[in-house]
Amino acid sequence: MQDLSPNRKELDPIETASRDEIEALQFHRMKRSLKHAFENSPFYRNRFIQADVHPEDLKSLKDIAKFPFTVKQDLRDTYPFGMFAVPQTKLVRIHGSSGTTGKPTVVGYTQADIDHWANLIARSIRAAGGRAGDMLHNAYGYGLFTGGIGAHYGAERLGCTVVPMSGGMTERQVTLIHDFKPRIIMVTPSYMLSILDEFRRQGLDPRESSLEIGIFGAEPWTNAMRQEIEEAFDMHAVDIYGLSEIMGPGVAMECVETKDGLHIWEDHFFPEIIDPVTGAVLPDGEMGELVFTTLTKEALPMVRYRTRDLTRILPGTARSMRRIEKITGRSDDMIILRGVNVFPTQIEEQILKCAGLAPHFQIELTRAGRMDNMTVHVECAEAMADADARAKSAKELAHHIKSVVGVSTRIEVRDPNGIARSEGKAKRVIDNRPKG
Ligand code: DLL
Repeated sequence: MQDLSPNRKELDPIETASRDEIEALQFHRMKRSLKHAFENSPFYRNRFIQADVHPEDLKSLKDIAKFPFTVKQDLRDTYPFGMFAVPQTKLVRIHGSSGTTGKPTVVGYTQADIDHWANLIARSIRAAGGRAGDMLHNAYGYGLFTGGIGAHYGAERLGCTVVPMSGGMTERQVTLIHDFKPRIIMVTPSYMLSILDEFRRQGLDPRESSLEIGIFGAEPWTNAMRQEIEEAFDMHAVDIYGLSEIMGPGVAMECVETKDGLHIWEDHFFPEIIDPVTGAVLPDGEMGELVFTTLTKEALPMVRYRTRDLTRILPGTARSMRRIEKITGRSDDMIILRGVNVFPTQIEEQILKCAGLAPHFQIELTRAGRMDNMTVHVECAEAMADADARAKSAKELAHHIKSVVGVSTRIEVRDPNGIARSEGKAKRVIDNRPKG
C-alpha cells in the first residue's frame, strides 16, 4: 500500500495549530454557542434556568461541566422541532436518526451548518488520503440518514467525482466499482464485507480493484476487521465517526498515516468523557461515555449531548486535535452476561482469529430460568460439509471467547450467507430474553 502522508501545507491551519490556539478558539465559540442556545431555544433557556446557570458563567472551558446534559429523550420529547434555535424558514435541510424504534429523532441545518459539515467531511476525506480529482464511490444510505448525503456534499467540496450509489444492490455496487474505477469508497464496514463477498462471487480479485482508500464508519468495528479488509482489498481502511444529533459523519476522523484513533474536529465540537453512572467528568485517558458540545451549530446547538458511545480521549498525534480511541461500543449494546460486560466488538475480534470462520455474525440472547445465555451465530469461511470441521471451528471460537472475554457461549456455525446481511449498519444483537 502506498504512503499517503499529507503535505502539511495542504491541511487547514487549525489542524496543526497549538493547543493554546485551539482552546482559545473553542472558548470563544463555546461562549457564543451557549448564548445562542439560551437566547433562541426555549428548550435550552428553560434548562439553563432550572439548573441555575447562565452563559456568562462560562469563564473557562472547564466551566462547561456546570451546564446540564442533553440526552436523546430530549429530542424525542420535543419532536419534531422543539429544540431548534432558528425558525423553520432558516433551515435548509432536515435529517433523522437511524433509530429503528418509534419516531426518528429529527435534526436540522442552516446553510452555515451545511457549509461547516461539507468542510469537515472534505477535511476527513483528505485525512484518509483522498484528494481533489479522486473518484469516490459513496455507498452510505441516501435519505434521512446523514451518511449518504453528508458524505456526498463533503466529497464534492473537496473536489472529488462522487458516485452517489447509496446502500443495497450489491451486485451493481461491484459492477460500478469495476467499471468506473473509483479510488475511494465510503461505506459501513459490515456492508464492505458483503461487497467483498460479491467481488468473489463474480470471480473478481478484490486486490486488483481500483480501490485504494476505504472510509468506514457508522458502526463499531475493530482493528482486526481493519486488517481483514486491508488485506482483502490491498487498500487503506480508516475510521470515520459521527452522529446525527451532533452533525452526522465527520465529527472525528482517523488519519491514514497513523491509523491510531480518530482526531476530533475540536474547532467545531468540544468533547468530554464522563462516568456514565455518576455523570462526573473524567480526565483524558480514562474510559467512559463521550459527550459533545457543539461550537458552531446554528439550527440545533447541542450542549453536553450524551452520545452513549464508550471510548477514551487521547492526545493528538498526526494533528494537534485530540483523538478518541476506536469506539468499543454503545452503552446500550453492552451485554451483561452473568456479571461480565461483553461488547459485540470483542466477539468480532475473536471470530477474526479463527481461520475457518467469516466475520458475519449475530449474537442471540436467551434466558433459561434465571440464567442468561449467549449464542454466537457465525458463518464459516467456505462451505464446510464436514460436521467435524464445523465443530472444531465452533470449539476454537468458544475457547477464544472464554479465555479473552471471560464468558461461556454457545456457537452455531452457519453456511456462507447464513447470517442476514445489512446494507448499512449491522444488527449485531438479537435479544430473545423475555421482556420485563
Ligand atoms: O451513523 C453518522 C455516520 C454516518 C458516521 C456515516 C460515520 C459514517 P447516526 O445514525 O446518528 O449517525 O448514528 C450514530 O453510530 O452514536 C455510534 O454509536 C455509531 N457510530 C458512528 N460512527 C461510528 C464509528 C451516523 N466510526 C451512532 N465507530 C454513534 C463506532 C460509530 N460507532
